[in-house]
Amino acid sequence: MARRTPSFACQSCGAVYNRWQGKCEACGAWNTIAEEPEVAASVPAVQRSGRKGRPVALESLKGQGTPPPRLVSGIGELDRVAGGGFVPGSIVLLGGDPGIGKSTLLVQASAALAERGHRVVYVSGEEAVDQVRLRAGRLGLSGAEVGLAAETNAENILATLSSGPPVRFVVIDSIQTMWSDTVESAPGTVTQVRTSAQLMVRYAKQTGAAVILVGHVTKDGQIAGPRVVEHMVDAVFSFEGDGAHQFRILRAQKNRFGPTDEIGVFEMTGRGLSEVANPSELFLSNRDAGAPGTAVFAGMEGTRPILVEIQALVAPSSLGTPRRAVVGWDSNRLAMVLAVLDARCGVRLGGHDVYLNVAGGLKIGEPAADLAVAGALVSSLTGAPLPADAVYFGEVSLTGAVRPVSQAPARLKEAAKLGFARAVAPVPGTDKGEGALRVEGVSSLAGLVAQVAARAPRRAAMPAKEVSHAGEG
Ligand code: TYD
Ligand code: MG
Repeated sequence: MARRTPSFACQSCGAVYNRWQGKCEACGAWNTIAEEPEVAASVPAVQRSGRKGRPVALESLKGQGTPPPRLVSGIGELDRVAGGGFVPGSIVLLGGDPGIGKSTLLVQASAALAERGHRVVYVSGEEAVDQVRLRAGRLGLSGAEVGLAAETNAENILATLSSGPPVRFVVIDSIQTMWSDTVESAPGTVTQVRTSAQLMVRYAKQTGAAVILVGHVTKDGQIAGPRVVEHMVDAVFSFEGDGAHQFRILRAQKNRFGPTDEIGVFEMTGRGLSEVANPSELFLSNRDAGAPGTAVFAGMEGTRPILVEIQALVAPSSLGTPRRAVVGWDSNRLAMVLAVLDARCGVRLGGHDVYLNVAGGLKIGEPAADLAVAGALVSSLTGAPLPADAVYFGEVSLTGAVRPVSQAPARLKEAAKLGFARAVAPVPGTDKGEGALRVEGVSSLAGLVAQVAARAPRRAAMPAKEVSHAGEG
C-alpha cells in the first residue's frame, strides 16, 4: 500500500514540500503552502507497475503534410498575439486578475469563431448558463452558434466534447474551478488544477481542437495560480490593465507558435472589448503638451511602434532619503538614469523626490526609453517644457553616451504619422527622417541636458513663475 505521508504544495507555483513552511523557496511567495495529500501519489500508475515501455517510431524534422490552418477569429489584436490565429491542437492559458475582462474577451472570440463556421464550446465553471447568455446579449452576440455549458467536472466536459461533431475551439473558464474524479483534493488545489489541465492538454493533442484555459491570477494563494500549469501549455497570454483605465493589454508571455513580444490593445466599453488599432493615439490623447516634465517616447511593442507620454516630477525633498516612485517603468533603470545624470551631466537630484509615470498605465520594458525619461526629468527640474512636437528614444549607457536602439525607422514612421516634426534620437542613426519629421541627433546625455537647459527660463535650475513658450520651434 502506498504511504500516505502528508505533502504540502505551493498554491502559486506548485513546488512540493514535506512539511509546512511560511515561505515558498521556489517562487518566494508567502503563505501559499497548503497541505495536499494527493501530491505524492500522483506518480503515473504505469511507472509504479514496472511495465516495460513500448518503442515509438521516430520521425524526421523534415515533416511532410501541411499543418491545418490556424483558427482566425477576425479580432485582429487577439489573432496577432496568438501568432496569426490559434493553432489547432494547441492549448493556451489566459491569465489575468479577476474582473479584468478575460471572460468577456473569450465570449467575443468564441462568437467570432462560431460566426466563421467553426464549432465552438464555451464551458463556464464560474457563471451559470443564463449569466453567460446575459453577457452575450449585452455584447450583441446572442445570435452566435456557441455551445454553452456550465460544468466543472473534467470527465463530464471531455465526454460532452467527444460527443457530436468535432469541436474546433474550446474555452474552459476557469481552470481553477475544474475538478477530476481521479484525484481527491478540492477544486482549486494544485493537484486538481494540474490534473484537469493535463486532461485538457491530452484532449487538445488528440482531437486537434484549440483549447483556451482561463486562469485567475491570485495573490493570496487561496487557489492555485496559473503558474502551476504554465509549463504544460503551448502558450501563456496575460490580460493586463488596471481599474483606473479603460484599456486592456493582451501580452504573450510564452508562445510555442508565435512571437512573445506582440501586444494586443483593447478598450473596455459598455459593449465589451473593442480593438484599439492605433494605440499611440489612445496613449497620447489628453496629453498635456507644453507642461514641463513630459516627454513623448517612441517605443516598440513587438513589431508595433507605440508612442507614449512619460511624465516626471522632480521636487525638493524634505526627507533624508528622497523618494523615488515609478509607475510603468523599471525602478532600477530610473536609478541608473539618475546616477548618469548626476555623474556625467552634473544634474544633482540627490535632494529631490522623483516621481515617474508612464501615462495611460502602459508598462515599458525597453531601455530605449532612457532618453525620454532623462528628458522628462531634466525638463521638470528646470521648468523648461520639451518641444511639443518632438519624440525621444535612445538608450543611455553608464558612460553617458546615447546608444542607438533597434527599429528606429518604425519609430520614426509612427511619429511622423502622428504629426510629430522632430525626433531626438541617437546620432549614428542612418535615418534621415520620415516625411516632414527631422531627426535631431544627440550623442551624449550631456548634449540633451544642454539642449533642455537652453530652453529653461533662467540658467539656474529653478523654475521661473512666468515663461512664455511661444518659440516652440
Ligand atoms: P469579466 O470578463 O467578467 O472579467 P474576468 O472574466 O477577467 O473576471 O469582466 C468583468 C468586468 O468587465 C466587469 O467589471 C464589467 C466589465 N464589462 C464592461 O465594462 N463592459 C461589458 O460589456 C462587459 C461584458 C463587462
Ligand atoms: Mg470570468
